[in-house]
Amino acid sequence: MSQIKSKERVAERGEVFTAEREVNAMLDLVANECLRPDSRFLEPACGDGNFLSAILKRKLTELRRKYKKSPRDYEKQAIVAIGSLYGVDIMNDNVEVCRERLFGIWDAEYTAHCKSEASHETREAAKFIINRNIINGNALTLMCVDADGNDTSAPIVFSEWTLIGGTQMQRSDYTMSDLLLYNDSSEGNLFALTEEQKEEGGIFLRRYITHYKKVQDYGE
Ligand SMILES: C[S@@+](CC[C@H](N)C(=O)[O-])C[C@H]1O[C@@H](n2cnc3c(N)ncnc32)[C@H](O)[C@@H]1O
Repeated sequence: MSQIKSKERVAERGEVFTAEREVNAMLDLVANECLRPDSRFLEPACGDGNFLSAILKRKLTELRRKYKKSPRDYEKQAIVAIGSLYGVDIMNDNVEVCRERLFGIWDAEYTAHCKSEASHETREAAKFIINRNIINGNALTLMCVDADGNDTSAPIVFSEWTLIGGTQMQRSDYTMSDLLLYNDSSEGNLFALTEEQKEEGGIFLRRYITHYKKVQDYGE
């Protein structure tokens, strides 16, 4: 795949995509983190998702190895894995391609592994999570952008997805600006604050708890 779409895009947005070989060499530096389904990654200028796609492939390969005989556990953990990947890009077309790529990888693996146990509902849950996690926004101003890349009045909001009690998924929403502001002592972990810190800081926006297959039924 070409690393450049046009000279104009390079000049305007610094858009040069990273080649697969370099992506994998960099991911090898954090190889163990790429195996854990719940290890979170944020790419603040994700382009069409070269890093996030490669991380997702690694996580799903590991899940397939681990849950060879249990499609149900695979399904649950595959939802956790997709919920662990976050991206922001200012170019709307990149965001669309990134979302489609992630879903394509996720769905191909899900269908191959869960076969007749795969469900439409779980696919919709995965799509919903991807649409929330991959955001068309400006990573410098921390605001969502319109189709021309101009800031809107909506802040970038990240959802923290946490599997609780076996099958329940908790979604907690925070603005990116608050997470960064309150986050200076957490060694780069976006959601590393304690519950008390989050609520005391007033940065907690809303929370939903649902079955992991039904996250799409609550909130936008
Ligand atoms: C050098 S490319 C890297 C893409 C991808 N990370 C990769 O390695 O293949 C930079 C990306 O940053 C995006 N970008 C530029 N300014 C941005 C901003 N202020 N906020 C978010 N994304 C931005 C561009 O649209 C482009 O997709």
